[in-house]
Amino acid sequence: MKQLITEIQTIKEQCLSALQQATNLDALERTRISFMGRNGSIATLMETLKSKSVEEKRILGPLLNDLKTSCQAAYDAQFDRLSKKTDAAPQSFDVTAYKPNQLYGSLHIYTHIIEQLSAIFTTMGYTIVDGPEVETEHYNFTALNIPHDHPARDMHDTFWLSRHDLLLRTHTSSVQAHAMQQTKPPFGIFAPGRCYRNEATDASHDFMFTQAEGMFVDKNVSMAQLLATSRAFLQAFFEKKDLNIRVRPGYFPFVEPGVEIDATCPFCKNGCSICKKTGWIELLGAGLIHPNVLRESGIDPEIYNGFALGMGIERLAMIKYGINDIRLFHSSNLQFLSQF
Ligand code: FA5
Repeated sequence: MKQLITEIQTIKEQCLSALQQATNLDALERTRISFMGRNGSIATLMETLKSKSVEEKRILGPLLNDLKTSCQAAYDAQFDRLSKKTDAAPQSFDVTAYKPNQLYGSLHIYTHIIEQLSAIFTTMGYTIVDGPEVETEHYNFTALNIPHDHPARDMHDTFWLSRHDLLLRTHTSSVQAHAMQQTKPPFGIFAPGRCYRNEATDASHDFMFTQAEGMFVDKNVSMAQLLATSRAFLQAFFEKKDLNIRVRPGYFPFVEPGVEIDATCPFCKNGCSICKKTGWIELLGAGLIHPNVLRESGIDPEIYNGFALGMGIERLAMIKYGINDIRLFHSSNLQFLSQF
């Protein structure tokens, strides 16, 4: 009995000392298992209690209980202390460890081109405006001198919506009439945005694409101003001061005369694959605004006139960056998109 009491005392001292000396959580856990675990020294002592007499149990019971609670309290206190120390300790890291490539977002190429063009037109005094993609037949066709029975409606294979006069706009020229109704001349607007045409896709045609419309209305606006503006913005966009333009007749019902504007190839002097060996690239549809278009939107064509020009954003981007398929623009192909 005396020997057992001494043993309880010894184990208590050993356990408390070992717990206090544990310098990290692993060592603490090893000490806990050795003394307080299911097969540890304290459990073994408890086992011997079973074979003792009632008198002996009355003396040994409280001593064993004290052993258990003292060790548990010491363990809890040391656990708290070491946990806090671990949290506060500076983290070590392996500088040679493999780190997978980080994917960074970037602006979409549409955004890049629209920002470049908008900056150029803003510098020339134009205001950037927006127009609805779901448009009425009036703004997309009728206000632009394209009546119901006009054959030019065939040029715009249209996505009609279930409400009979609504459609997805086929060109950004639809912004013209909105601008003329909202602003008094003189004004210049630049309107980039999405367009839709119900046509088969190939490397240079898509059913959804982006255009931008430039429009200037004032008194005595001349063809010379249109051509000077076109040359200035193309030189700025392609960053080529010696880029020149040429004009061919072109038919658009909302301009008269209507023209197609080509620019000298920004990439070669004598012909390359981009200009198909001609030295010229087709870039814009343009012309002086038809008097019917001005009149339809409440502007007196006897006092004012103006010019309009329209461009395909993808076409400009494809030429500038050598992109060979328009379908890449909304392909979600990260290898393509992350280049810009
Ligand atoms: C027009 O849409 C006229 N609104 C442009 C205009 C504005 C003329 C102002 C006169 C005055 P066109 O249908 O040619 O014109 O289209 C203009 C440009 O849009 C084309 O040169 C081309 O770059 C682009 N485009 C037209 N259809 C598609 C298509 N399906 N996919 C991709 N780009 C297209």
